[in-house]
Amino acid sequence: MKKSIINFREMAEKKEKIVYITGYDYLTAKYEERAGVDMILVGDSLGMVTLGYETTFPVTMDDMIAHSSAVRRGAPNTFIVGDMPYMSYQISNEEAVFNAGRFTKESLVDAIKLEGGTDSVCQRIKAISDVGILVMGHIGLTPQFAAQMGGYKAQGKSAGAAMELLRQALAIEAAGASFILVEGVPAVVGKAITERLNIPVLGIGAGSFTDGQLLIYADMVGYYDDFTPKFVKKYANVGAELLKGFTAFCDEVRNGAFPDDGVHTYVIADEEAAELEKLLAEIK
Ligand code: KIV
Repeated sequence: MKKSIINFREMAEKKEKIVYITGYDYLTAKYEERAGVDMILVGDSLGMVTLGYETTFPVTMDDMIAHSSAVRRGAPNTFIVGDMPYMSYQISNEEAVFNAGRFTKESLVDAIKLEGGTDSVCQRIKAISDVGILVMGHIGLTPQFAAQMGGYKAQGKSAGAAMELLRQALAIEAAGASFILVEGVPAVVGKAITERLNIPVLGIGAGSFTDGQLLIYADMVGYYDDFTPKFVKKYANVGAELLKGFTAFCDEVRNGAFPDDGVHTYVIADEEAAELEKLLAEIK
């Protein structure tokens, strides 16, 4: 059964860890649901993992809607979070509500996520929550702010920076967010934030104390190999398996081993084959 915000609050209260993973397509989502993950994020990491961009910036609302819809079809019984792409919420509350509404109406996601802890992002969170949509905040290493951070760098590494992240987390909760995701911070900062918030705190590279753990699926199954962040653990080697399969297919097609007509080909009754031969001979 699909979990709701109530289940996630209870899990956080009882210290039962929430399992959270990204997904971008129907098939992967199907396996994630079969594995029993609690929550799927259709992240704008879609841009790098699936669409081949160097950053998340080019990803559009239409990309996110198409992929979130596919994930919904693959995982009908899993809580799905749609990630608001760059410039889908920054300009005004109206645009933010409109795009969050598109996610909910067109892709049937259960919540949306947006990045940042500034005053204007908190206004967007309030506006979106006010129309009844569940919001997940996202602070720390936030890729849409990569230029200002000087790249994909861990955040909250000084006492002052950590206190600023805690201030942002509290502001996001006060604005009406139902969850918060903390990314790329020292474990002690993840713990300090989790201990002080009432909403479930999910972490990615934020230590073991947070209420749940997120990883990008393509990192943790050894599929995306352009780079691997320090906080990723590899649980499988899908890339190597794909390469093995593709290489074997190339070899077998080229050397004639595939297809084996006795196994991989449709059959025709003997009398039909004889008749066909006769007809072909007539048109020679
Ligand atoms: O887009 C995404 O997958 C994300 C995670 C990196 C947190 O926002």
